[in-house]
Amino acid sequence: MGEEKTFYITTPIYYPSNKLHVGNSYTTVAADAIARFKRLTGYRVWFLTGTDEHGQKIQRQAEAAGKAPMAFVDEIVAWIKELWEELDIEYDDFIRTTEPRHKEKVARIFTHFHEQGDIYKGKYEGWYCTPCEAYWTERQLVDCKCPDCGRDVEMIAENAYFFRMSKYAGRLQDYIEAHPEFIQPVSRKNEMVNNFLKPGLEDLCVSRTSFDWGIPVPFDPEHVIYVWLDALSNYITALGYGEEGSLFETFWPADVQLIGKDILRFHTIYWPIFLMALDQPLPKTVFGHGWLMLQEGKMSKSRGNAIDPRILASRYSSDALRYFLLREIPFGQDGIFSLENFITRINTDLANDLGNLVSRTLTMAERYFDGVLPEPSSAGNSDAELRAVALATPAAVESYTDQLKISDALAELWKLVRRSNKYIDENMPWDLARDPAKEPRLGTVIYNLIESIRFIAVMLQPFMPRTPERIWQQIGLKDNSNLQSWPSLMTWGALKPGLVVERGEDLFPRLNLQAEIREMQGSQPADRDSGGGVEAEETEGLINLEQFQQVDLRVAKIVAAEKLPKADKLLKVEVEIGEDDLRQVVAGIAEHYRPEDLIGKQVLFVANLKPVKLRGVLSQGMLLAATTEDGRLALTTVDRDISSGSRVS
Ligand code: MSP
Repeated sequence: MGEEKTFYITTPIYYPSNKLHVGNSYTTVAADAIARFKRLTGYRVWFLTGTDEHGQKIQRQAEAAGKAPMAFVDEIVAWIKELWEELDIEYDDFIRTTEPRHKEKVARIFTHFHEQGDIYKGKYEGWYCTPCEAYWTERQLVDCKCPDCGRDVEMIAENAYFFRMSKYAGRLQDYIEAHPEFIQPVSRKNEMVNNFLKPGLEDLCVSRTSFDWGIPVPFDPEHVIYVWLDALSNYITALGYGEEGSLFETFWPADVQLIGKDILRFHTIYWPIFLMALDQPLPKTVFGHGWLMLQEGKMSKSRGNAIDPRILASRYSSDALRYFLLREIPFGQDGIFSLENFITRINTDLANDLGNLVSRTLTMAERYFDGVLPEPSSAGNSDAELRAVALATPAAVESYTDQLKISDALAELWKLVRRSNKYIDENMPWDLARDPAKEPRLGTVIYNLIESIRFIAVMLQPFMPRTPERIWQQIGLKDNSNLQSWPSLMTWGALKPGLVVERGEDLFPRLNLQAEIREMQGSQPADRDSGGGVEAEETEGLINLEQFQQVDLRVAKIVAAEKLPKADKLLKVEVEIGEDDLRQVVAGIAEHYRPEDLIGKQVLFVANLKPVKLRGVLSQGMLLAATTEDGRLALTTVDRDISSGSRVS
């Protein structure tokens, strides 16, 4: 038996000082996707998250809320756990720093450092930033404020314990230089080395006496242990550090520790030095990702529904939120969260690309084969290419995910989604269906599409855990874990003909952007704005985007046309707006076009006009045409051949 492959990944532990916003959820969603990916590809994974519950900030907030600190954090922790459940965060352990299993080990670590001579008692005089729980020297302050968050600092003077950072600084710098994969992205490594290590590390104050919401120093209980020494230790205390046969022995050192860039200094300087002092190996990679910002600046919980992750997940589905977070921002860079970007991603990538692929394919499978997966028996147009793209995608997705380039991994997967949609357009199954001799080819096309959908669903699992379930249901693979597995992607054509497929609800219905913005932000469109907005006269006769979007404009392909008896100006035209949607319209174009010249033309079409009868003939829409000065009509077309039913906006 080969050695078991293990993988340990952590997130920062969050301050339960307030409910989390969508920016905080970002790290945890990314960590969950990576953890799920490693599980899917055969690793034994340990995924840890939790809460950082001690410190002056929490104590003060609890006081302000009129609660005991423990009761205060209990409530928020319960909320955070519910959030993780709603976002399908499948952690293996959730550590709270107020748990005995943690406190007792931190106390032992502190004593060990003291006995080893790494911690000594001295006098602390200096500046303290309470929100960051960080000490600063005069020199480090920027305009007398905290250099990290820009807020006020307090002068503190007290007896305190210090950790001899200087003893380990040289070793750490050598380690960082020799291990380029340790601090990522690389730009962050230079920042740490140049700003903190090179100027020389000062000893760190690791105890406080001015408050008591913390872990007492075991041999001097007037003091509580500095909250960052307490918090950073969670990554090993949760594994049972120091206990024989514990998970620590299996999983340490961590493979990936994900954090936001603002807490990089603690994780790439203090944390490795504590580990060196414990004589333990350092994590393989500490990755500092960028921040999710709002257009107007930093996020704060008070900004409302649009950034409350629980509201977003329940309204749009956790899969949509996860997809957006993972896809929109290249991991490592800052990104903007806006409802507009979010809804646009849902509409383009999820509704148009993925959702349409599944619904078009299954509609055709039901219509042409009664929902029974046909045999692939007749090779043809672009089969080889679709197959090649599908077979190459898993390795590309894996390689990007391993490099923590999750956005690129998803972009790669979407190439297969788009290639599959293009395959439909190239093979035009609805045309094949008109000729019974082409049935074997039609069957092959449908088979290949469903096989491609299976590939996509397998790879989607770590990123959007719920959607694949819905796809298995629709393509008849609900109980077939073999064909949902990563190794099954080695072979194209593993699906067994004869499976029964059943089209379900659309995976991601299209959303109306303006309506969503109004609802979530409570904002009014500009032309309805009464105070300080656009003046009423200026907007008279104008419509807003939402009104325009009420018109369902499509590209329609004319498939039949004939004259209407006893009506010189009218033609009865049949158009196709999608493979399953034929409409009949009565159009006043008989004096301008001969019926036979119209067949095959792709014309702009209003698809949601109320049906009317003209000369007793039903008309279900309108072809759009321009009128020249001399009264001639020209139908409006698109400038290349595209799928019937494409939306025009
Ligand atoms: N408790 C410390 C971490 C201790 S780890 C041993 C802490 N907590 S925090 O709740 O303030 O922040 C947790 C994480 O959320 C940090 O990694 C921080 O970077 C991240 N984020 C906070 N706001 C964020 C965004 N707007 N966008 C992305 N991440 C953000 O720091």
